[in-house]
Amino acid sequence: MKTGHIELARAQQDRWQTAYEGNPRLHGAEPSAAARWTVRLFEAAGIDDVLELGAGQGRDALYLARQGFSVHATDFSEAALHQLRLDAQRDGLDDRVTAALHDVRDPLPPADATVNAVYANLLMNMAFSRAELRSLVNEIHRVLRPGGLFVYTVWSTADGCLPKCTEIGDGLFAKDGFAGRFFDLDLIHELAERWELGGADAYEEGPEPRRLWRVTQAKPAPNS
Ligand SMILES: C[S@@+](CC[C@H](N)C(=O)[O-])C[C@H]1O[C@@H](n2cnc3c(N)ncnc32)[C@H](O)[C@@H]1O
Repeated sequence: MKTGHIELARAQQDRWQTAYEGNPRLHGAEPSAAARWTVRLFEAAGIDDVLELGAGQGRDALYLARQGFSVHATDFSEAALHQLRLDAQRDGLDDRVTAALHDVRDPLPPADATVNAVYANLLMNMAFSRAELRSLVNEIHRVLRPGGLFVYTVWSTADGCLPKCTEIGDGLFAKDGFAGRFFDLDLIHELAERWELGGADAYEEGPEPRRLWRVTQAKPAPNS
Protein backbone atom coordinates (compact mmCIF):
# COMPACT_ATOMS: atom_id res chain seq x y z
CA MET A 1 0.00 0.00 0.00
CA LYS A 2 1.44 3.37 -1.05
CA THR A 3 1.00 5.96 1.68
CA GLY A 4 2.24 9.22 0.07
CA HIS A 5 -0.75 11.51 -0.32
CA ILE A 6 -1.07 11.73 -4.11
CA GLU A 7 0.24 8.19 -4.57
CA LEU A 8 -2.40 6.88 -2.16
CA ALA A 9 -5.17 8.70 -4.06
CA ARG A 10 -3.99 7.25 -7.40
CA ALA A 11 -3.55 3.77 -5.95
CA GLN A 12 -7.09 3.88 -4.56
CA GLN A 13 -8.55 4.93 -7.89
CA ASP A 14 -6.71 2.02 -9.56
CA ARG A 15 -7.84 -0.38 -6.81
CA TRP A 16 -11.51 0.54 -7.24
CA GLN A 17 -11.27 0.48 -11.02
CA THR A 18 -9.77 -3.03 -10.97
CA ALA A 19 -12.34 -4.26 -8.46
CA TYR A 20 -15.23 -2.95 -10.59
CA GLU A 21 -13.73 -4.31 -13.81
CA GLY A 22 -13.61 -7.74 -12.19
CA ASN A 23 -17.16 -7.77 -10.83
CA PRO A 24 -20.23 -6.15 -12.40
CA ARG A 25 -22.10 -6.47 -9.06
CA LEU A 26 -19.34 -5.63 -6.58
CA HIS A 27 -21.78 -4.37 -3.93
CA GLY A 28 -24.69 -6.54 -5.06
CA ALA A 29 -27.79 -5.53 -6.98
CA GLU A 30 -29.99 -4.67 -4.00
CA PRO A 31 -30.11 -1.08 -2.73
CA SER A 32 -28.39 -0.29 0.55
CA ALA A 33 -30.39 0.11 3.76
CA ALA A 34 -29.41 3.78 3.70
CA ALA A 35 -30.95 4.29 0.26
CA ARG A 36 -34.27 2.80 1.37
CA TRP A 37 -34.27 5.09 4.42
CA THR A 38 -33.19 8.14 2.42
CA VAL A 39 -36.01 7.73 -0.10
CA ARG A 40 -38.54 8.20 2.70
CA LEU A 41 -36.69 11.24 4.07
CA PHE A 42 -36.38 12.94 0.68
CA GLU A 43 -40.00 12.18 -0.24
CA ALA A 44 -41.18 13.69 3.05
CA ALA A 45 -39.07 16.79 2.30
CA GLY A 46 -40.60 17.15 -1.19
CA ILE A 47 -37.26 16.52 -2.90
CA ASP A 48 -37.28 14.87 -6.32
CA ASP A 49 -33.68 15.23 -7.54
CA VAL A 50 -30.48 13.97 -5.97
CA LEU A 51 -26.75 14.36 -6.50
CA GLU A 52 -25.10 11.07 -5.54
CA LEU A 53 -21.36 11.04 -4.82
CA GLY A 54 -19.28 7.84 -4.91
CA ALA A 55 -22.21 6.04 -6.55
CA GLY A 56 -20.16 3.02 -7.66
CA GLN A 57 -22.11 0.74 -10.02
CA GLY A 58 -25.33 2.47 -9.09
CA ARG A 59 -27.32 0.06 -6.95
CA ASP A 60 -28.67 3.06 -4.99
CA ALA A 61 -28.87 5.50 -7.92
CA LEU A 62 -31.03 3.01 -9.85
CA TYR A 63 -33.19 2.37 -6.81
CA LEU A 64 -33.72 6.12 -6.28
CA ALA A 65 -34.61 6.47 -9.97
CA ARG A 66 -37.09 3.58 -9.71
CA GLN A 67 -38.74 5.46 -6.83
CA GLY A 68 -39.20 8.45 -9.14
CA PHE A 69 -36.16 10.62 -8.32
CA SER A 70 -33.89 12.21 -10.92
CA VAL A 71 -30.35 11.23 -10.00
CA HIS A 72 -27.00 12.60 -11.07
CA ALA A 73 -24.48 9.94 -10.03
CA THR A 74 -20.73 10.51 -9.86
CA ASP A 75 -17.73 8.34 -9.04
CA PHE A 76 -14.01 8.31 -9.87
CA SER A 77 -14.22 4.83 -11.46
CA GLU A 78 -15.18 4.83 -15.13
CA ALA A 79 -15.70 1.04 -14.95
CA ALA A 80 -18.34 1.50 -12.24
CA LEU A 81 -20.11 4.26 -14.16
CA HIS A 82 -20.07 2.17 -17.36
CA GLN A 83 -21.97 -0.58 -15.52
CA LEU A 84 -24.36 1.97 -14.01
CA ARG A 85 -25.18 3.39 -17.47
CA LEU A 86 -25.71 -0.11 -18.93
CA ASP A 87 -28.10 -1.04 -16.12
CA ALA A 88 -29.95 2.29 -16.38
CA GLN A 89 -30.45 1.68 -20.11
CA ARG A 90 -31.54 -1.94 -19.56
CA ASP A 91 -34.14 -0.82 -16.99
CA GLY A 92 -35.35 2.13 -19.08
CA LEU A 93 -34.15 4.56 -16.41
CA ASP A 94 -31.65 6.49 -18.51
CA ASP A 95 -33.96 9.50 -18.71
CA ARG A 96 -33.81 9.76 -14.90
CA VAL A 97 -30.17 8.79 -14.21
CA THR A 98 -27.08 10.56 -15.49
CA ALA A 99 -23.55 9.52 -14.57
CA ALA A 100 -20.31 11.49 -14.69
CA LEU A 101 -16.71 10.78 -13.79
CA HIS A 102 -15.67 13.00 -10.88
CA ASP A 103 -13.09 12.83 -8.12
CA VAL A 104 -14.60 14.47 -5.04
CA ARG A 105 -11.19 15.93 -4.17
CA ASP A 106 -11.92 18.36 -7.01
CA PRO A 107 -14.56 21.09 -6.68
CA LEU A 108 -18.09 19.84 -7.28
CA PRO A 109 -19.39 20.89 -10.72
CA PRO A 110 -22.78 22.42 -9.73
CA ALA A 111 -23.12 26.18 -9.23
CA ASP A 112 -23.74 27.61 -5.75
CA ALA A 113 -27.07 26.80 -4.09
CA THR A 114 -28.52 24.82 -7.01
CA VAL A 115 -28.80 21.30 -5.55
CA ASN A 116 -31.69 20.04 -3.39
CA ALA A 117 -30.11 16.93 -1.93
CA VAL A 118 -26.77 15.13 -1.80
CA TYR A 119 -26.45 11.45 -0.97
CA ALA A 120 -23.21 9.50 -0.39
CA ASN A 121 -23.26 5.88 0.76
CA LEU A 122 -19.86 4.81 2.14
CA LEU A 123 -17.90 7.47 0.24
CA MET A 124 -16.87 9.78 3.10
CA ASN A 125 -14.99 6.91 4.81
CA MET A 126 -12.69 6.48 1.81
CA ALA A 127 -8.99 7.47 1.91
CA PHE A 128 -9.39 11.21 2.47
CA SER A 129 -7.25 13.35 4.75
CA ARG A 130 -9.20 15.33 7.33
CA ALA A 131 -8.50 18.48 5.29
CA GLU A 132 -9.94 16.81 2.18
CA LEU A 133 -13.01 15.76 4.17
CA ARG A 134 -13.57 19.31 5.42
CA SER A 135 -13.14 20.69 1.94
CA LEU A 136 -15.60 18.13 0.48
CA VAL A 137 -18.20 18.96 3.13
CA ASN A 138 -17.71 22.67 2.38
CA GLU A 139 -18.23 21.99 -1.32
CA ILE A 140 -21.45 20.09 -0.60
CA HIS A 141 -22.57 23.01 1.58
CA ARG A 142 -21.79 25.43 -1.27
CA VAL A 143 -23.81 23.58 -3.94
CA LEU A 144 -26.86 22.86 -1.75
CA ARG A 145 -29.66 25.36 -1.70
CA PRO A 146 -30.49 26.72 1.78
CA GLY A 147 -32.52 24.03 3.53
CA GLY A 148 -31.03 21.34 1.24
CA LEU A 149 -30.22 17.93 2.72
CA PHE A 150 -27.04 15.89 2.87
CA VAL A 151 -27.27 12.20 3.86
CA TYR A 152 -24.10 10.14 4.19
CA THR A 153 -23.03 6.86 5.68
CA VAL A 154 -19.60 5.82 6.97
CA TRP A 155 -17.81 2.99 8.75
CA SER A 156 -17.96 3.32 12.53
CA THR A 157 -14.99 2.94 14.88
CA ALA A 158 -17.14 0.16 16.44
CA ASP A 159 -16.95 -1.85 13.20
CA GLY A 160 -15.47 -5.34 13.60
CA CYS A 161 -13.31 -4.79 10.51
CA LEU A 162 -11.16 -2.15 12.24
CA PRO A 163 -9.01 -4.56 14.31
CA LYS A 164 -8.30 -6.58 11.14
CA CYS A 165 -7.00 -3.52 9.25
CA THR A 166 -3.50 -2.07 9.13
CA GLU A 167 -2.99 1.54 10.19
CA ILE A 168 -1.29 3.49 7.38
CA GLY A 169 -1.08 6.96 9.00
CA ASP A 170 -3.22 10.10 9.13
CA GLY A 171 -6.00 8.10 10.83
CA LEU A 172 -6.43 5.86 7.78
CA PHE A 173 -6.55 2.07 7.72
CA ALA A 174 -6.14 -0.47 4.91
CA LYS A 175 -7.17 -4.00 4.08
CA ASP A 176 -6.80 -5.89 0.78
CA GLY A 177 -5.51 -2.75 -0.90
CA PHE A 178 -8.56 -0.61 0.01
CA ALA A 179 -7.97 2.29 2.39
CA GLY A 180 -10.34 4.34 4.48
CA ARG A 181 -11.24 5.97 7.77
CA PHE A 182 -13.46 4.81 10.63
CA PHE A 183 -15.66 7.57 12.03
CA ASP A 184 -16.51 8.42 15.62
CA LEU A 185 -19.14 10.91 16.77
CA ASP A 186 -16.51 13.62 17.32
CA LEU A 187 -15.58 13.59 13.63
CA ILE A 188 -19.25 13.58 12.60
CA HIS A 189 -19.86 16.64 14.81
CA GLU A 190 -16.73 18.37 13.51
CA LEU A 191 -17.92 17.94 9.91
CA ALA A 192 -21.37 19.24 10.85
CA GLU A 193 -20.09 22.70 11.83
CA ARG A 194 -22.11 25.26 9.81
CA TRP A 195 -24.88 22.62 9.36
CA GLU A 196 -28.04 21.60 11.21
CA LEU A 197 -27.28 18.06 12.28
CA GLY A 198 -30.53 16.12 11.93
CA GLY A 199 -29.17 12.82 13.21
CA ALA A 200 -26.21 10.50 13.53
CA ASP A 201 -27.65 7.00 13.78
CA ALA A 202 -25.68 3.83 14.36
CA TYR A 203 -26.87 0.84 12.34
CA GLU A 204 -25.64 -2.52 11.04
CA GLU A 205 -25.72 -3.93 7.54
CA GLY A 206 -24.66 -7.13 5.79
CA PRO A 207 -23.71 -10.60 6.98
CA GLU A 208 -20.58 -9.64 8.98
CA PRO A 209 -22.32 -7.25 9.89
CA ARG A 210 -20.66 -3.89 9.20
CA ARG A 211 -21.28 -1.28 11.90
CA LEU A 212 -22.02 2.05 10.30
CA TRP A 213 -23.21 5.60 10.94
CA ARG A 214 -25.96 7.26 8.96
CA VAL A 215 -25.72 11.03 9.14
CA THR A 216 -28.35 13.55 8.08
CA GLN A 217 -27.57 17.23 7.98
CA ALA A 218 -29.21 20.29 6.43
CA LYS A 219 -27.72 23.50 5.12
CA PRO A 220 -29.37 26.09 7.32
CA ALA A 221 -31.97 28.26 5.66
CA PRO A 222 -31.68 32.03 6.31
CA ASN A 223 -33.19 33.00 9.70
CA SER A 224 -33.40 29.36 10.78
C1 LIG B 1 -17.66 1.50 -0.64
S1 LIG B 1 -17.90 2.03 -2.30
C2 LIG B 1 -19.62 2.50 -2.26
C3 LIG B 1 -20.25 2.55 -3.62
C4 LIG B 1 -21.75 2.88 -3.65
N1 LIG B 1 -22.02 4.11 -2.94
C5 LIG B 1 -22.55 1.74 -3.07
O1 LIG B 1 -22.98 1.83 -1.92
O2 LIG B 1 -22.73 0.74 -3.79
C6 LIG B 1 -17.05 3.61 -2.34
C7 LIG B 1 -17.11 4.30 -3.68
O3 LIG B 1 -16.43 5.55 -3.59
C8 LIG B 1 -15.71 5.76 -4.79
N2 LIG B 1 -14.65 6.73 -4.47
C9 LIG B 1 -13.61 6.57 -3.64
N3 LIG B 1 -12.84 7.66 -3.63
C10 LIG B 1 -13.42 8.55 -4.48
C11 LIG B 1 -13.10 9.87 -4.90
N4 LIG B 1 -12.00 10.49 -4.45
N5 LIG B 1 -13.92 10.50 -5.76
C12 LIG B 1 -15.03 9.86 -6.23
N6 LIG B 1 -15.38 8.61 -5.89
C13 LIG B 1 -14.59 7.96 -5.01
C14 LIG B 1 -15.23 4.38 -5.19
O4 LIG B 1 -14.91 4.28 -6.56
C15 LIG B 1 -16.43 3.53 -4.80
O5 LIG B 1 -17.33 3.42 -5.87
